[in-house]
Amino acid sequence: MQYQWYPGHMSKAKRQIQDELKLVDVIIELVDARIPYSSKNPDIEKFAGNKPRVLLLNKADLADEARTKEYKTYYEKKGYFVLTVNSKAGSGVKNVLNVVKEACKEKRERDLKRGIIGRPLRAMIVGIPNVGKSTFINSFAGKSVTLVGNKPGVTKGKQWIRLNKELELLDTPGILWPKFEDQQVGLRIAWIGSINEDILDIRELAMTLLSYLYEEYPGVVNAKYGIEECADGFEALERVARKRGCLKKGGEADIERASGIIMDDYRAGKIGRITLERVEKEEPDTNAKDRVEKTEDSVATATEEM
Ligand code: G4P
Repeated sequence: MQYQWYPGHMSKAKRQIQDELKLVDVIIELVDARIPYSSKNPDIEKFAGNKPRVLLLNKADLADEARTKEYKTYYEKKGYFVLTVNSKAGSGVKNVLNVVKEACKEKRERDLKRGIIGRPLRAMIVGIPNVGKSTFINSFAGKSVTLVGNKPGVTKGKQWIRLNKELELLDTPGILWPKFEDQQVGLRIAWIGSINEDILDIRELAMTLLSYLYEEYPGVVNAKYGIEECADGFEALERVARKRGCLKKGGEADIERASGIIMDDYRAGKIGRITLERVEKEEPDTNAKDRVEKTEDSVATATEEM
């Protein structure tokens, strides 16, 4: 299964983000705590320059707590201000403002020296689709949200949200890197449900997820579906189908339906709090650079007509 998903609006969003970065003091990047590395957009790292970056490990309620802690430490070491949040329930969200202020401390001090007082900090919110940006903004801004119209020198239609007198947010459309050079990254994004289902083989997704779970979280599949571990992925799906009464006419196991159930269960956290990658398997910095370069190549060859 090849994951190559690059609708034209992604390319447009990327250019837009590059332009808009000039307007903000800080970048707030959301990633999915179940795949912090794979849901992180390498372009942002490249565009950010010296801007402070706040990284939110969102959907932490669905992720493995121990691994989330490891990722927090890992990204802190890389210079990010990191917070663990559950935007849906609102937990961790109220700490974000303080962390953003801390991240912008130097900038605020510079402003003060130049006599600039009371100017709100401007933050850009970025993240791949479905990572929870809208949910986060709603939770973060709450009732206090005010949409700020067009600003002088800013292209028409920018979505500025005034959180309070200290902070304004610039919302950006979801972006995803143009090509999943690393097929594992594509697979994990598909597992969490952030790739259009129509272009995927749900059976393969479920089979590969089961084999990951057997390896990394022994016992959880058994506990959820009451089936013995089974090395043959297809056989495992068949067992889940029979257990769940997913049968076609004539009693044949409905593999597709069983696959859908497994994927829905995983995505809703019903199999447990499970993280789909490990911090110690992160690539060293050299590979991160390589990944960015590959992305650039892909962008150069991508067309907007897709
Ligand atoms: P986006 O703007 O980045 O595209 O993402 P959006 O906020 O639309 O969120 C995508 C889905 O993720 C939504 O679920 C949302 O409720 C869920 N979500 C966001 N943050 C969290 C979180 O911290 N924890 C959990 N468990 N879920 C979160 P949905 O099924 O599409 O919508 P709904 O049924 O919740 O309304």
